[in-house]
Amino acid sequence: MTLQELLGIELPIIQAPMAGVQGSALAVAVSNAGGLGSLPCAMLGPEAMRKELAVLTSQSRGPFNVNFFCHVPPKPDQEREAAWRRLLAPYYKEFDVDPESIPAGPGRAPFSHGTADVLSEFKPPVVSFHFGLPSPKLLERLRAWDPVILSSATTVQEARWLEAHGADAIIAQGLEAGGHRGHFLSGDLTLQMATFALVRQIVWEVKVPVIAAGGIADAQGVAAALALGATGVQIGTAYMLCAEASTGLVHRAALKSKTARHTALTNLFSGGPARGIMNRAMRELGSMNDAAPPFPLAAAAMAPLRAKAEAAGSGDFSPLWSGQNAAGCKEIPATQLTRELAGGFRR
Ligand SMILES: Cc1cc2nc3c(=O)[nH]c(=O)nc-3n(C[C@H](O)[C@H](O)[C@H](O)COP(=O)(O)O)c2cc1C
Repeated sequence: MTLQELLGIELPIIQAPMAGVQGSALAVAVSNAGGLGSLPCAMLGPEAMRKELAVLTSQSRGPFNVNFFCHVPPKPDQEREAAWRRLLAPYYKEFDVDPESIPAGPGRAPFSHGTADVLSEFKPPVVSFHFGLPSPKLLERLRAWDPVILSSATTVQEARWLEAHGADAIIAQGLEAGGHRGHFLSGDLTLQMATFALVRQIVWEVKVPVIAAGGIADAQGVAAALALGATGVQIGTAYMLCAEASTGLVHRAALKSKTARHTALTNLFSGGPARGIMNRAMRELGSMNDAAPPFPLAAAAMAPLRAKAEAAGSGDFSPLWSGQNAAGCKEIPATQLTRELAGGFRR
């Protein structure tokens, strides 16, 4: 089955959900261009989610995707948090931040019965997850309107697990991909494969359609992924300079500069490994630092440093999420980019 048949879209392109850099505007533009637009909900409360879903439902002429994280929230650990803040103390001093004034807080909540309540008002045609799948009870609630369910796999083992637990298609997220790794069965990052090696092996191992993600940024990349047996692609980084994205100015400047050629996995900004452009924090603290509390708890202590640095026009302490191929980022409308990515491809 092609991705177009599975999702009822024209082009084999999914715009990757990207929490923090886009909302309904980008998703509407991509869906109306014939791809599948996605709304990332990981950082939205119920009211903000309702608002965004109302826009998507009323403005998109085609199907769209709504995306959630389903991590298991860690227990806050005061000692670990204190050690993390001690490590950041010289920066608090440099930026004149009072560490006592920094609130703790998770920032990103997993999919829950509360979010399922909101979704049931809108019945989105596609729902995608990062970090596995929600509990069988929660999945059952979605089946009430039977959306297509997608989730990311970073290993063949995760792909098999997702197929066995109810995913209708699998997003093979290679290590080139920007943002958080979707890994959920093991924290061993050495298990991660590059997109083409991963796609090929998942295609051999599962029966459900496979969607390639990571480092795909032009029509040739899309064609190559399809030639390897992917049924479609999910593309994130390439959309980040589109006017419909809400990517901040500092982040946009980094994506446009040569520094975007150097990305690395870092846990400094949330606690979970995610790919971003190398910056001062990553260079000085080490891009993976054992002192960072687990996902998503590391974010709170970093937030004021990011705010102060960004106010001065610097991305030194920002999560500059990007995949390894920012060369496809274009400052053009998302409709045009979607069509360019699809090349001459039609259903
Ligand atoms: C800025 C950014 C934010 C992201 N946020 C999410 C998210 O909220 N949910 C999700 O499932 N994937 C997220 N991802 C990962 C994408 O789904 C996808 O795997 C990735 O963008 C594909 O690689 P590419 O960026 O090289 O195209 C994010 C990626 C980026 C670049």
